[in-house]
Amino acid sequence: MKRKVMSVFGTRPEANKMCPLVKELESREEIESIVCVTAQHREMLDQMLAAFDVQPQYDLDIMEKQQTLTTITSKATLGLEKVLREVKPDIVLVHGDTTTTFAAALAAFYNHVAIGHVEAGLRSFDLQSPYPEEANRRLVGVMADVHFSPTVNNAENLRRENIQAPIFITGNTAIDALKLTVKDDYTFECPALQTLDFSARKVIAITAHRRENYGEPMEHIMAAFAYLAKNHPDVQLVYPVHLSPYVQEIAHRYLDGLDNVLLTEPLGVTDMHNLLARSYMVMTDSGGLQEEAPALGKPVLVLRRETERPEAVAAGTVRVIGTEEAVIIAEAEELLSGGQRYQSMAHAVNPYGDGFACRRIVDDLLYFLGEAEQPAENFCAQ
Ligand code: UD1
Ligand code: UDP
Repeated sequence: MKRKVMSVFGTRPEANKMCPLVKELESREEIESIVCVTAQHREMLDQMLAAFDVQPQYDLDIMEKQQTLTTITSKATLGLEKVLREVKPDIVLVHGDTTTTFAAALAAFYNHVAIGHVEAGLRSFDLQSPYPEEANRRLVGVMADVHFSPTVNNAENLRRENIQAPIFITGNTAIDALKLTVKDDYTFECPALQTLDFSARKVIAITAHRRENYGEPMEHIMAAFAYLAKNHPDVQLVYPVHLSPYVQEIAHRYLDGLDNVLLTEPLGVTDMHNLLARSYMVMTDSGGLQEEAPALGKPVLVLRRETERPEAVAAGTVRVIGTEEAVIIAEAEELLSGGQRYQSMAHAVNPYGDGFACRRIVDDLLYFLGEAEQPAENFCAQ
C-alpha cells in the first residue's frame, strides 16, 4: 500500500520550497502525495502554484486582509483538523517557520499524525527577531518526528536543543528550484522588467516585508532606498512590493515618483530569480533571498539585526547591516563603488544546497517510514 504523505503550506516562501518537493513526492511509486494549502497568502501563493504547476487537493482559503496571527493560527488549525481526519495521512510535511507551519504541526500533533519538518533547525536565538518565526520554528522543532535540516549548522542547532527525533541533512530545496528557473536567454513576463537595461545601470533588487521591521526600522529602510535613488542616478532600484497593506503604503509613500525606482507587483518566481541573476546586488530582509542570491554570485546586504542563515555570511557574500538609515546608505555606497569589498562578495557560493535536496528528503522520508533500507547521504557543502 502506498504511504500517504500530506504536504501543508500557505505562504509564498513555503510554496517556493515545497513545490519542488511535491513534484519529487509525486514521482515516487511508494507514495501517494496530497497537498493542502492554507492560503495564508492568496495571490502570492497562487503565483507559486502556477509557476510549479502544483494543484492542491485541499485549499482552506483562510486569507483575509490584515488578519492577526491568532486568527491565522486558529483558522488554519481548525481547517486542517478536518482535512487530517478525512485523509488520515501517514505523515504531514511542514516547512520552515510561518504561522501556517506552526498551525499545521499543532493540528497534526493533536491528531496523532507524524510530523516531518522541512528546513528544520534554523535559529536566530532571539524570540523577538524574526518575529514570530523564531518561536514558530522552535515550537515545531519540539513537535516534529523527523527533521530535514538544510545544513550541518542547522542540525547542530537541533542537537544542542537535545532533540531526539532523527535529523537528516539535505540541503535546501530553494536551490533545487533555482536550478530550474534561471536562464541566460530568459525573457521577463513583467513588461516593466523587459524595458530594463541591465548593462546601462547598476540594478539593485530590493525587498522588505518583515514584521519586526514594521515601524521605525521600515521608515529608515525606505528613506535609505529613496536617498540612494536620488543621489545615484546611475543606479536602478527594482522593488517588487509585498502585498501586505502596511508594506504597500510605506513603499509607495517613500518611493513613488522617483525615476530610477521601479515598484512592481510581486513577481512570478521565474522573473524574480532571473532579476536576481542579472542584478548588481541585493538589499533585503527576506530569508529566501539570502539563500538564492549567494548561489547566483550576488552580494546581499541584509536589512535586519540578525540572521538565522549564517553560512553565507561566513562565506563572505552576505553582510547583516541592521536598519539604521545612515548605515544602510554607507554600506550600499561602499558596494556601489565596485571596490575590493564588492569584488570579494560577488562570487557564487552554495552553502545551502546542491540542487538535490528534494531527492534526499524523499529518500530519507522513505527510510523513516520503513520503506527503504538506507537514508540518502547527508548534504555536505563544498
Ligand atoms: C508571512 C510569514 C513570514 C514570511 C512571509 C513571506 C508568518 C507569521 N509570517 O508574513 O514568515 O516571511 O509571509 O512573504 O507566517 N497579502 C495579500 N495577498 C497575498 C499575501 C499577503 O493581500 O497574497 C496581505 C494580506 O493582507 C495579509 C498581509 O499581506 O494579511 C500579511 O500577510 P501574512 O501572511 O499575515 O504575513 P506576512 O507578512 O506575509
Ligand atoms: N519572490 C518572488 N517574487 C517576489 C519576491 C520574492 O517570487 O516578488 C520569491 C523569492 O525569490 C524567494 C521567496 O519569494 O524564493 C521569498 O519570499 P519572501 O521574501 O516573501 O519570504 P521569506 O523568504 O522572507 O520568508
